[in-house]
Amino acid sequence: QSASLTVNVYVHIIDGEDEAIPQEFVSEQLSVINSNFGPCGIAFNLVGVTHTVNPAWFYVTMDSREEADMKAALRQGGYGDLNIYFAHLQQGMLGWCPFPEPDPTAEDRIMDGCVVSYLYGPGGEAPYNMGRTLTHELGHWFNLYHTFQGGCNGGGDGVDDTPAQASAVYGCPAAAPDSCPDSPGVDPVHNYMGYSDDQCMTEFTQGQMSRMLRSYALFRAGR
Ligand code: ARG
Ligand code: ZN
Ligand code: CA
Repeated sequence: QSASLTVNVYVHIIDGEDEAIPQEFVSEQLSVINSNFGPCGIAFNLVGVTHTVNPAWFYVTMDSREEADMKAALRQGGYGDLNIYFAHLQQGMLGWCPFPEPDPTAEDRIMDGCVVSYLYGPGGEAPYNMGRTLTHELGHWFNLYHTFQGGCNGGGDGVDDTPAQASAVYGCPAAAPDSCPDSPGVDPVHNYMGYSDDQCMTEFTQGQMSRMLRSYALFRAGR
């Protein structure tokens, strides 16, 4: 199927002093996101890969001096291009990714881009071992909130066709809970924007897909 949006991708591999991210990791991870975003008409085109050995950046934390230094040194392209930093991260940390800013400052532009642990990439540690952490994080990069955003009340995630959900669901319940019985639908446990196990996450809704394409056109394209 032909993509309606192709995003250029710059990958930055951060290695530790005596621990390196496997060679095949990048192509495996890219094929996961291309297949997960295929139904949205979004394709990811790898245009560059950098390699850096840096023990401090290997264990980078969110909003740290190390994150700012790493991104300032390595980031490429514009606000419509995707930079992904693969590193080890701290114990149990899967990754993070900033939302688009309507009016990005110079600092927003540098700090844009996803930081993801290779430990939970394809072939990593179950139950986060199918590369779908990056799919989830990219949802945020395209302006999607969690399906449980706002709980049962209010605007929630700003998407009409994701059922309201009181709080995050972990694991992969065989029968989806109905945490907001007064709202239509049961908890969307198979949605990429929840906290289910990788093998349980299999879909974006049509509403999420159009929000992503709309947000990209508004906030990122050509900027
Ligand atoms: N907790 C992370 C976040 O909120 C990501 C969760 C991803 N879940 C997964 N099954 N890979 O951004
Ligand atoms: Zn998230
Ligand atoms: Ca919703």
